Amino acid sequence: MSHYDNNTLIQKLAETHSLSLSEYQFLITHRDADSSRFLTALAADVRKKIYGNRIFIRGLIEISNICKNDCLYCGIRKSNTKCRRYRLTHDEILNCCREGYALGFRTFVLQGGEDGAFTDDTLCQIIKSIKQEYPDCAVTLSLGERSFESFRTLFDTGADRYLLRHETADADHYALLHPSNMQFQSRMQALKDLKAIGYQTGCGFMVGSPFQTPLTLAKDLKFIEEFAPDMCGIGPFLPHHATPFAKYPAGSAELTCFLLSVIRLIRPNILLPATTALGSLSDDGRLEGILAGANVIMPNLSPQSVRADYQLYDNKKHSGSESAQGLSILKHQFQSVGYEIVTDRGDIYHI
Ligand code: 5AD
Repeated sequence: MSHYDNNTLIQKLAETHSLSLSEYQFLITHRDADSSRFLTALAADVRKKIYGNRIFIRGLIEISNICKNDCLYCGIRKSNTKCRRYRLTHDEILNCCREGYALGFRTFVLQGGEDGAFTDDTLCQIIKSIKQEYPDCAVTLSLGERSFESFRTLFDTGADRYLLRHETADADHYALLHPSNMQFQSRMQALKDLKAIGYQTGCGFMVGSPFQTPLTLAKDLKFIEEFAPDMCGIGPFLPHHATPFAKYPAGSAELTCFLLSVIRLIRPNILLPATTALGSLSDDGRLEGILAGANVIMPNLSPQSVRADYQLYDNKKHSGSESAQGLSILKHQFQSVGYEIVTDRGDIYHI
């Protein structure tokens, strides 16, 4: 594959928003400091043309760490008996929104494990209350796979967006990360359902997950190109001590940032968060993510009393500027490098 040249491929991607599978693979395998700099500059430029220096924020409310699934990488997997389980009530969730609204958040993300207690009825009551009290806010759900009917009911009640990471676009890789009762095809179907219903839909994957290769990553990029999501969450895999992947190495910030830039060029207007996992790797992880082309930050708005229990991986940050209450630290940090954190729903700009 040596007939490719990195900068030529990057230029082509910037112009056509598309590469072949083997071109993506080449780009990942042969990335180096020079071509990464070129890529980052193009990605930052594209983001600036569409979103200016504006960074959107989302208040992340982790509503339950109870989960029926047993994903091999995840700290709140069903088999982890050491995990202290919690579930927020309707009122606790509304209190988080109240606090978040005062801080300037105009999107609330309700994220949680696949907890059967969050029936459609329960969720609809919560969505209705949020929309009634804060009609100028968007509600994002991130609650795993549900039926088409359920997705539609929640959408009709007022949910605006749904995040469901595809985790990997390679079926064999998916099977190595999940127990056999979780199906790659169901995940892909759920994503199609969400889009068809009308949600602003987000997919995503971990960088450096066990058994990931340049080819599986190339498939992730091709999937993003073809699925054309409104949002995409990527962050490094970080091991959790009480999972089967405890001994696997963490993914790198460098590759995560590289892929953020590639995704920005594939989908210039995409809503792309610099994730908590990236921020957990190093103090300026999220800033690096923004510099690479991300335009969204999701500070933690969960009640302080449960934050430590939503541990998907070890050493997850949830205080300081990771915390919604630390927003002013974040604002200053970003201002000093020319970015502005805005009070806005932060919907996707259609170009
Ligand atoms: N490291 C990094 N990300 C993780 N997630 C789950 N476990 C880990 C981990 N150990 C991510 C998954 C999931 C999202 C909620 O968090 O991609 O979709």
